[in-house]
Amino acid sequence: MPTLLEGKSIAITGGDQGIGRAIAERLAHDGADVAICYRSNQSGAQEVVAQITRLGRRAASIQCDVGKIRDGQRFIAESIAQLGKLDILINNAGLERRADFWDVTEADFDAVLDVNLKGLFFLTQAFVRHRMQAKSGGKVINISSVHEELPFPHFASYCASKGGLKMLTRNLSIELAPLGITINSIAPGAIETPINKNLLNDPAKLNALLQNIPLKRLGSPSDVASLASFLASSESSYITGTTLFVDGGLLWNYQEQ
Ligand code: BGC
Repeated sequence: MPTLLEGKSIAITGGDQGIGRAIAERLAHDGADVAICYRSNQSGAQEVVAQITRLGRRAASIQCDVGKIRDGQRFIAESIAQLGKLDILINNAGLERRADFWDVTEADFDAVLDVNLKGLFFLTQAFVRHRMQAKSGGKVINISSVHEELPFPHFASYCASKGGLKMLTRNLSIELAPLGITINSIAPGAIETPINKNLLNDPAKLNALLQNIPLKRLGSPSDVASLASFLASSESSYITGTTLFVDGGLLWNYQEQ
């Protein structure tokens, strides 16, 4: 039986853990061949490759630091070399550093912006150039955050990167539309992944956060992967330039006691 993403080749940054890993496995389950990149978690990447292969799909795993432009370009080139082409790019890799604004160092600022925005920008450019040659459209899906809208005190660099991603998504939706390329963002709220490990290990902080989430639970990576599956499929072909939130109601929660 043909599946939703049969014949599609998809590249996912940071596919070795957390949300990226759930998306990689879900899209392979839906029929896609998948290339992932990882920065240091080689064993996680190998597990994902094994799982995709078990599902009967082709997989590639490439070491790359998305924060380095040449690495990102190489990830796209090697994915194309190994899978034959790329139809869809999922910009998932991301990081955050906590600090009071007045203590943020240039090194930490650069680490966050280089991966979340600058690296993503040029990696997307490499993907778009490939799709221009292919002349048959394409899709870009960004994993943003509720914090492209919602302030996150002590994470100013992270918020700046996600706010920038919001406008990049809107801007590219116009510029890429004539090429038949759509671009959208998924904005997760609090999802149980390694990016959240400090929070998950602190019951008081975790409980305070849960009070802010109307659905009263953290999200799971699979909650995000199911939306990625829809956005990667042709079912979403008229959607571009927008952000879809997967946050249990966190973003718009306001109550008076
Ligand atoms: C951040 C998490 C945070 C969550 C909800 C995510 O974008 O990566 O650290 O807990 O938003 O605030």
